[in-house]
Amino acid sequence: MRGMTGRIDAAFEVVPKRVDHAPEALDVIHLANGYPVDPAKRERHTRFIAQQLERFPEGQFVAVVRDGTRERVVGTSTTLRTARAPSDPPLPWHAVIGDYGIPRHDPDGAWLYGVEIAVHPAFQRRGIASALYRTRLGLVEELDLDGWYAGGMLMGYHRYADRLSPRAYAEQVIRGTLEDPTVSMQMRRGLVPAGIIEGYYREPKAGDCAVLLTWTPRAARGATGVALAKPVPAPLAAKAAAHRRAARGTVGTSAPAAATRRGTVRR
Ligand SMILES: CC(C)(COP(=O)(O)OP(=O)(O)OC[C@H]1O[C@@H](n2cnc3c(N)ncnc32)[C@H](O)[C@@H]1OP(=O)(O)O)[C@@H](O)C(=O)NCCC(=O)NCCS
Repeated sequence: MRGMTGRIDAAFEVVPKRVDHAPEALDVIHLANGYPVDPAKRERHTRFIAQQLERFPEGQFVAVVRDGTRERVVGTSTTLRTARAPSDPPLPWHAVIGDYGIPRHDPDGAWLYGVEIAVHPAFQRRGIASALYRTRLGLVEELDLDGWYAGGMLMGYHRYADRLSPRAYAEQVIRGTLEDPTVSMQMRRGLVPAGIIEGYYREPKAGDCAVLLTWTPRAARGATGVALAKPVPAPLAAKAAAHRRAARGTVGTSAPAAATRRGTVRR
């Protein structure tokens, strides 16, 4: 909605991902990472999202803004369950997930693993990724998992590539003496650095390097027993069947019932 200031205000919501979100979700991933959109890959991504929703619908979310009846995807989050703990020797991203269709998802795995998170550049710094993280961490508690972990890509490394190795840069980001646009933000959201994974994912901007980030309900509650980074609950397990239907969706449907997080976006 356009207000008196001429700025556009739009509420965002985190909702279960549907197959028809796929083309815009892929565009968000490309644009967020600084690459042009690639329409030729939209069909393949649609197949991948259909597979994600078949294998683990509860773990897939998008953030949307609405303009009348039109819903626009501005953020996307993908997770899977794995039996591998963050203390196990780290694997490259592709080895953990298989491919974007998450064939390595283990329905009995005790850990939630972060496959992807991205927010459209025009909608960044409005709390959308924070809302997506809270939804992920809420899912850990809802499914009674041991915790969440992922490789946080060091997307700001390229600024220091002429002076530092990826590992030296990662060490400084973890110490807090250098600021990384992705990993420092993740650490401020309560995710705990637990290691450095070189060769994690082919991304020149990051020197292919990630920081192993972890979150457990026990650590988040701290010594006081009070949650430090309180997650927004994801849809209740009892609603899983409805969620599954909403997530599969039919093209052009109304909003899914299980919206999990609202906020206000200004651009
Ligand atoms: C990393 C990424 C997902 C963050 O998304 P985002 O939606 O901008 O994240 P948030 O808005 O929740 O938080 C970002 C910052 O904006 C701030 N912010 C949130 N709401 C705000 C508001 N209304 N006004 C001003 N600042 C705000 C947050 O406090 C945070 O800053 P801080 O870390 O200094 O505290 C996004 O930059 C992105 O897609 N990057 C490229 C892909 C990527 O790196 N993915 C992760 C791979 S591991």
